Amino acid sequence: MTFKEEIDRRRTFGIISHPDAGKTTLTEKLLLFGGAIHVAGAVKSNKIKKTATSDFMEIEKQRGISVATSVMGFDYNGYKVNILDTPGHQDFAEDTYRTLTAVDSVIIVIDSAKGVETQTRKLMEVCRMRHTPVIVFINKLDRPGRDPFDLLDEIEAELNIRVRPLAWPVGNRTEFKGVYNIYEENLYLFTPAKQVLEDGVEIKDIAGGELEKHIGQRAATTLREELELIHGVYSDFDKAEYSAGKLAPVFFGSALNNFGVRELLHAFLKIAPSPRASQTDIREVSPCEEKFSGFVFKIHANMDPNHRNRIAFVKICSGTFMRNTNYLHVKQGKQMKFSSPTAFMAEKKSIIDEAFPGDIVGIPDSGNFKIGDTLTEGEQMVFKGLPSFSPEQFRYIENADPMKSKQLAKGIDQLMDEGVAQLFVSQYNNRKIIGTVGALQFEVIQYRLLHEYGASCRYEPINLYKACWIKSDNAKELNDFKKRKNQYMAKDKYGRDVFLADSSYMLQMAQENFKNIRFHFTSEF
Ligand code: G4P
Repeated sequence: MTFKEEIDRRRTFGIISHPDAGKTTLTEKLLLFGGAIHVAGAVKSNKIKKTATSDFMEIEKQRGISVATSVMGFDYNGYKVNILDTPGHQDFAEDTYRTLTAVDSVIIVIDSAKGVETQTRKLMEVCRMRHTPVIVFINKLDRPGRDPFDLLDEIEAELNIRVRPLAWPVGNRTEFKGVYNIYEENLYLFTPAKQVLEDGVEIKDIAGGELEKHIGQRAATTLREELELIHGVYSDFDKAEYSAGKLAPVFFGSALNNFGVRELLHAFLKIAPSPRASQTDIREVSPCEEKFSGFVFKIHANMDPNHRNRIAFVKICSGTFMRNTNYLHVKQGKQMKFSSPTAFMAEKKSIIDEAFPGDIVGIPDSGNFKIGDTLTEGEQMVFKGLPSFSPEQFRYIENADPMKSKQLAKGIDQLMDEGVAQLFVSQYNNRKIIGTVGALQFEVIQYRLLHEYGASCRYEPINLYKACWIKSDNAKELNDFKKRKNQYMAKDKYGRDVFLADSSYMLQMAQENFKNIRFHFTSEF
């Protein structure tokens, strides 16, 4: 196979949803279809159950499992599919945001009874920032849900994207009978509670009388009317619009019952993009370039405290990655070669000799990598698009054991490199402030500092609303601002200026009074 063919056959994507919409179930069903696993229930994913919020051993266990399921690769119909898993727990949303920087497209799962939920909205914002192509899968059609047309309207309004159904539920609401595949123009009928992957009854021509025989007069008429309406209301599916992130094709089904999953997978493979160009600080990198380049989007700590090895997950952006070959770690200006890079095929990890754009390789790391680090064959460039987002919760972190201050500093440093949370140092009193997306991370940090670094910490409350990275072309105004707001100024771990606003009112006033300063809620702009 040529290098170009290797790239073209790759589909690297993430499945995202509000917790409980069915992301884990759908992932598992796609793996079953792909032949990557053979029994349902094999993937527990890195879903940290809500009940486990204070059970650290459970979290640790889940973290261990999630190494195996972080990337699930499999071959199907000539395609190489890479599913990147994202944490189900919303306190780990930042992890999800970062994983989204490594995917070429996304499937969003929505619960048909609940419609668009908070987390769906937030994740969609991240996709929009990156113009990521999005497919929507409306799940749980086997249960009474909302009217599909209403759901489509809600998605358009709430997620701010145009939609185009490519599948349509038959006999929805109380009696789900199947999914009509608009994309391929055929219908598979649904047998409830069927867990096996059998072909259903296929009806090719829904205009003929065969449809009535299977689903009855009423459902047949409704289906024909609804399809006519769809063709009238929605313009034809335009792949270019989808690839630009402006149009979301919508599929319906029931992941639990394997329904609509095949329609989704087949259409996905045909329309979803192969690896796309990636932006660096100096130029755009095409996947077809011969020279290897890639970046670290995730770092996973080892569960075993005695072996503090980590795995750095590298997304390959161009060229062929080869084992035991020297590559430049751009930030450190150091040549490195890797003797045991791993690929992830379903649940198995195996050492690989080469990998192609779109693939993710795991590199054992003893502390050399930070999230966002770039590897190249020598070119000085850094991949962009790995922003930190303003945390939502903040606490001072203090040393609780004066004998262990070195361990604490090292532990905090490494956990921040892993992207567990963000560290700010107050310019006013030099105290360290930890910012996170959810409360659970504070407990995870405390636990991991103790168990992996032997350091104890305690937290003290600090009342903050948002962290904003500030920039201005007007140096005088910027200096003036920093002086006036001295008490609220901090540096992030890269030494950038951050304004820690304690309320939305304070932020609003600052924005009004300092018109030449730009306040950013992400670290990259
Ligand atoms: P998540 O990863 O998005 O958080 O969701 P997950 O797949 O874990 O699904 C959440 C719950 O919804 C699970 O039930 C799952 O079985 C159920 N579910 C997923 N897809 C469908 C579907 O198509 N139809 C119906 N009726 N239910 C579906 P649970 O009781 O919370 O967990 P479990 O005990 O079944 O694992």
